[in-house]
Amino acid sequence: MPDDLTVIVLAAGGGTRMRSKTAKVLHPISGRSMVGHVLHAARGLEPTRIVAVVGHQREQVGPHIEALVPDVTLSIQETQEGTAHAVRVAWQALPEEARVGTVVIAYGDTPLLEAETLSRFVRFHRDSPVAMSILTGVVADPTGYGRIVRDEQDAVAAIVEEKDASPDEAAIDEINSGILAFDADFLDEVLPRISNDNAKGEYYLTDAVALAREAGRTVAAFAIDDVVQTEGANDRAQLAALAAEMNRRILARWMREGVTVVDPSSTWVDADVKLAADVTLLPGVQLHGATVVEEDAVIGPDCTLKDVEVGPGARVVRAHGELAVIGAGASVGPFAYLRPGTVLGRDGKIGTFVETKNADIGPGAKVPHLSYVGDATIGEGANIGAGTIFANYDGLQKNRTTIGAHAKTASNNTFVAPVSVGDGAATGAGSVIRRDVPPGALAVSSGPQRHVERWALRKRPGTQQAEAAEKALGAQADPAVGRPDGGTPGADVGDAPTSG
Ligand code: UD1
Ligand code: CA
Repeated sequence: MPDDLTVIVLAAGGGTRMRSKTAKVLHPISGRSMVGHVLHAARGLEPTRIVAVVGHQREQVGPHIEALVPDVTLSIQETQEGTAHAVRVAWQALPEEARVGTVVIAYGDTPLLEAETLSRFVRFHRDSPVAMSILTGVVADPTGYGRIVRDEQDAVAAIVEEKDASPDEAAIDEINSGILAFDADFLDEVLPRISNDNAKGEYYLTDAVALAREAGRTVAAFAIDDVVQTEGANDRAQLAALAAEMNRRILARWMREGVTVVDPSSTWVDADVKLAADVTLLPGVQLHGATVVEEDAVIGPDCTLKDVEVGPGARVVRAHGELAVIGAGASVGPFAYLRPGTVLGRDGKIGTFVETKNADIGPGAKVPHLSYVGDATIGEGANIGAGTIFANYDGLQKNRTTIGAHAKTASNNTFVAPVSVGDGAATGAGSVIRRDVPPGALAVSSGPQRHVERWALRKRPGTQQAEAAEKALGAQADPAVGRPDGGTPGADVGDAPTSG
């Protein structure tokens, strides 16, 4: 089949310079592993098959790749004897009938590689009457790369590896990116002929160039300007540099799509995040995972959202959220913590110093201040007083609290789950609600207020407290105040609740 396309991703090498328990290609950039980015680009080609070569830390790398590309062919390179050896291992993992068409070689640690680049490269290779093509770049410092050696006619003659290069060859600034395309027939024929007779004692895939020439075949070079797409991260400093570059590119793309990014240098948006036009990201915003932000929403400053859906026109300020849904026009923060399972309805509010978890907060419902809302359903238009705790855990299991539509609960309440408050009901300040409240009822659980008159004068004599009290009592003209019976009876019960 002429259109048959195989992509071989080499990911068997060690990542010593990362100094990490985590395999090099699994280190994340913009919410995906490095190899995840490469596989994403490879899939963009819609290839017939993808083969991944794993070796070092393959118990981590193998399952990760299989999770991302379920139909991948994994091939194991037991010992890392060079890039040609790695490709040979991949090649042998394929059945005879799959060793046809075009074969692209890529590395697992070049996260900025774009599908579009690979696709242009494959088209270039297929349009040229050549045995193989090299994706090359001209770089300021070619150290470490294989150099592209050209003949008098400017045709590609060989790739010479750094360690085998003469001073003249070492001075060449056109380099092999490592991304190569082969005609399957040629690859099949050249792989057994590559030796390891070189400075590193490795099987160099790059030797295929000189062997092609010897066989009278031609090799083409496809130069790209954007060489960072082919750069690998070998240590944490390079990882950070590539991450910053990828983030810069992601933000540039969203700005072209109509998103306002006030401070790109302090804004981080993962590769899989989706933003609508006229979204505004204020400084200090990090959007991770599968976060989606709809139009006219304003996020920030200082928000971290992972796998959060933000509806149109919502406002999120200094918040941390994970696996939560924020409805259209809703308001969150400042200083809010939305834990998994939080669903805030249209025009709802999760205010300041509020933590929510498994909480379904209805349209227009508000939890404005200093509260914990766990395992709760709050009805449409309900208002939760300041300092409310949804006591969802009895020490054995989590229980649910339901607050009815348009209920108004007062400040400093505790809802001891499982419990429910009916539609249109109310509670008194400081109540501990343990029994279901009927619709429309006022529930009051705190006892009537009692006064022990002149207590400070008797129990704290000689203190500033007593002195202040004495002074105030001396100035007291109204004989009703300070009555020994403890205040106005019934002042609490039946009053409108003190709402937050
Ligand atoms: C290779 C190229 C060089 C090119 C450079 C670009 C060869 C001989 N050299 O050099 O021309 O400029 O990449 O970065 O091909 N790998 C395996 N198994 C192995 C050896 C390597 O899977 O046995 C994988 C590594 O994990 C890595 C990639 O292949 O992802 C490249 O291997 P590396 O040893 O880093 O090659 P370089 O010396 O950088
Ligand atoms: Ca390398």
